[in-house]
Amino acid sequence: MSLRVAQSIAELRSLLAQARRTGKTIGLVPTMGSLHAGHGRLMELAREESGFVAVSIFVNPTQFNQQEDFHRYPREFEKDRQFCEALGVDCIFAPPVEEMYPRPGLTSVEVAVISETLCGPFRPGHFRGVATVVAKLLNIVQPDFAYFGEKDAQQLAVIQRMVEDLNLPVTIRPVATVREPDGLALSSRNKHLSAGERQAATVLYQALQAAERAIQAGERNAERVKQQAQKIFDKQPGARVEYFEIVNPADMQPVAEIQIAESQGAEIQNAVRVAGAIWVGSTRLIDNILVVPGER
Ligand code: PAJ
Repeated sequence: MSLRVAQSIAELRSLLAQARRTGKTIGLVPTMGSLHAGHGRLMELAREESGFVAVSIFVNPTQFNQQEDFHRYPREFEKDRQFCEALGVDCIFAPPVEEMYPRPGLTSVEVAVISETLCGPFRPGHFRGVATVVAKLLNIVQPDFAYFGEKDAQQLAVIQRMVEDLNLPVTIRPVATVREPDGLALSSRNKHLSAGERQAATVLYQALQAAERAIQAGERNAERVKQQAQKIFDKQPGARVEYFEIVNPADMQPVAEIQIAESQGAEIQNAVRVAGAIWVGSTRLIDNILVVPGER
């Protein structure tokens, strides 16, 4: 079947109804476009397990704090369309803003606690915008599976908790971060980086790795782990750290001490997420890794 593009909810629903009539399961990959291999990985996984793959491309205005960031967000629909076609996507849902928000929304989804750390304080309202638009997309598409990247671990945690709290009938599939050979996580924002900034941007993943090394070397005090990461940032004046934290992966709350894994089975409970945000020039980059203490 060839790739279909739906701009309206009605059009999309008729394509989905057809797919369901033939017994296909539906996989949804929500994106804001400007697609890269990170999005591609989500689509590949969707293609593997769903009979019908829908990709939404919607630059959601309600999750941007600054109008400027919203307006400068890259939009390249024809390139994105070809990208989806090559990966065997069945349908792109690319609604105009008026289709998603015909009137200013009076209803929103707020996932407390998880939204309040890391990026939360620096991007007021961001996760409310994300949770609300994802809830809308899940209601519009009603997929069996929806795919989200661990690159945005806090977003993933917010969505997982929303799905659980609101009993949304969907299975969320987390997908590992896709990186450049030098470790930089793929991001639509990377294209804003000049050559020098691109070089400086690698410092974030290096700092995450330094934190992981410290933990694996036996450091259990979060402050001291962060000091090791800070040494890496100190060598790179081209990047400004917004935050760098060690959190509990389930609720994104900072931990002071990293627990020692006592038995093999308990290890995952002791895992921590090390997460950071940096500014390189006028571009903000985020990244994170999951560290299971004791795992080498
Ligand atoms: P966007 O930034 O376009 O990302 C879409 C999906 O791709 C997200 O689930 C994100 O985590 C994932 N992704 C991005 N870079 C990745 C990488 N390097 N490796 C693996 N996955 C990656 O995230 C959003 O859009 C929006 O907030 C959205 C969920 C669509 C709601 O508007």
